[in-house]
Amino acid sequence: MSSYSIQSLEHYFRVYRRSVRKPKKFWGRIAEDNFTWYQKWEKVVEFDMQEARFTWFKNGKLNITKNCIDRHLANLGDKNAIIFEPNNPNEPARHYTYNQLYSEVSRMANVLRDQGVKKGDRVCIYLPMIPELAIAMLACARIGAIHSVVFAGFSAQALSARINDCTCRMLITADGGYRGSKKISLKQIADEALSQTPSIEKVLVVKRTGERVSMKEERDQWLQPLLEQAAAASKAEVMDAEEPLFILYTSGSTGKPKGMLHTTAGYMVYTAYTFKNIFNYQQDDVYWCTADIGWITGHSYILYGPLLNGATTVIFEGIPSYPDYSRFWEVIQKHRVNQFYTSPTAIRSLAKEKIEYVQRFQLDSLKVIGSVGEPINEEAWHWYNDHVGNKRCPLVDTWWQTETGGILISAIPFVTPTKPTYASLPLPGIRPVLMDELRNEITGNQKTGNLCIEFPWPAIARTIWGDHQRYIDTYFSKYPGKYFTGDGALRDEVGYYRITGRVDDVIIVSGHNLGTAPIEDVISEHPYVAESAIVGIPHEIKGNALYGFVVLKETGLWRDRNNLIREINQLITDQIGPIAKLEKIQFVNGLPKTRSGKIMRRILRKIAEGEDSDFGDVTTLVDPDIVEEIRRERV
Ligand code: WTA
Repeated sequence: MSSYSIQSLEHYFRVYRRSVRKPKKFWGRIAEDNFTWYQKWEKVVEFDMQEARFTWFKNGKLNITKNCIDRHLANLGDKNAIIFEPNNPNEPARHYTYNQLYSEVSRMANVLRDQGVKKGDRVCIYLPMIPELAIAMLACARIGAIHSVVFAGFSAQALSARINDCTCRMLITADGGYRGSKKISLKQIADEALSQTPSIEKVLVVKRTGERVSMKEERDQWLQPLLEQAAAASKAEVMDAEEPLFILYTSGSTGKPKGMLHTTAGYMVYTAYTFKNIFNYQQDDVYWCTADIGWITGHSYILYGPLLNGATTVIFEGIPSYPDYSRFWEVIQKHRVNQFYTSPTAIRSLAKEKIEYVQRFQLDSLKVIGSVGEPINEEAWHWYNDHVGNKRCPLVDTWWQTETGGILISAIPFVTPTKPTYASLPLPGIRPVLMDELRNEITGNQKTGNLCIEFPWPAIARTIWGDHQRYIDTYFSKYPGKYFTGDGALRDEVGYYRITGRVDDVIIVSGHNLGTAPIEDVISEHPYVAESAIVGIPHEIKGNALYGFVVLKETGLWRDRNNLIREINQLITDQIGPIAKLEKIQFVNGLPKTRSGKIMRRILRKIAEGEDSDFGDVTTLVDPDIVEEIRRERV
């Protein structure tokens, strides 16, 4: 256990050095001491950073749910695994002990098997934040099916595109879901998606809101009656270390969403190890991460990481502002939460409300607070640290990505001194480097560059589902031999990293990654639109918001502008989801393009941000005058 739990800064440096010098020994030891295997691996790692091939724990055999559940039954069977806190504070919380979780997951696994789901089949899960979501994922893992969770805020078209990309056989959804004061008719949205998803054979529907839904005979069934008939024990499928666990989609700067594939053993070892250390989880603690399970944060740090450590994890169905802005703080008090993990957007939105919302509640149970998903600005950092952490809880700013599977750079509480806005130091096994545009490594400190990682870690994504070449092109070709993150970073005088933001055309809005090109493609579908370009502008709460420059076709020029704006945003809502709506739209006569036809986004970004001069060299533009024209008409 010597390297599993890091005790002091000195210990961290020792462990880190060891992990970098002898990664095989380091990860092999952790894998051996802390997990249950059917069969031990032959080799800890084999890899090729050019071809993006990674094999961790070669030929090891295991099942992740044995490690998430069965392994804890002897000692922690009566401990709460999941506490479900509903959207409506008057609805009682539900508790699932490890014993109960075992039964529920087994029932669901048996239902899936009865319905013909086999190892390797893809199962799409489109559910609100209810316990059935976690149970469905674990049931898939139990039988070796690959789950593909789609965030329940996505539209029908986004859902069908994801189902079709990995040809799911089954969809698990609900009649509806609650979100603050709103009800979302999930089955109705799913029905629309299902009209375009030939691979789906069966649909299982969880009853949550009790609203009327249409059920297609042969295809659709209510889940609860099936669960009641199913046996409460189940065999766990024997999985090879490298067999897939799940697919999770993330937006790219171009093209369709990328189905990032994660496999079993490496993901398990890495999420368990990082959870333990980054949250300093102790056996009686209650841990709460407010993310949606539909994102990677929820996969790794609501579900797998905590359960692998025998933790109690809170699943929260609601939103921070319902019924009022004290909801988070009330839940912390109610369940005596010890570790709290949320996003800068949530913090900023709560920090602007009256401080009494926080002060009315006892937050003394908190020991560690965390941030994830986007850079946390100084003001938000201090508010979180002062008013929530009460200046006594270490604030861990955790940097990572869907592709990385787990956190790569973060402070370790009670070990690494924190510094506002800095994610701080790499975790053991992680070797960050900064690179310049000419592919030279930037050495020394107080430097900024493009953030790359030099050596694979166990949870690195293995491929993009169905398109390995795109995986290589996106992450492994710009800096050969290295994984390119797409983020920029600053390294300070002591080697702490601060993530400065995306260096590609991905914009992070309220913690959600949005590629500009896919949104521009949607806008072009509007009959009056000729072309468009989207840039990010700073936003007080969301971190960034989207500003669209739209060129209309001749026929569109004399239409009602407000109507057009509404229609464009409606198109985006229908095809992607409301999170991708544009904050501002400016209709322009043309875009600043170079002679080779490339849009100079740098200029558009400056205009959108409100700059009036200093646009840099515009001589390579086909029509330099357009810059001034766009600037004058800025909205
Ligand atoms: C950004 C979320 C600054 C970053 C886990 C990254 C962050 C992208 C941080 C991945 C952080 C995530 N500080 N930026 N602590 N955490 N990001 O795939 O730009 O949804 O590349 O994974 O979010 O977003 P994703």
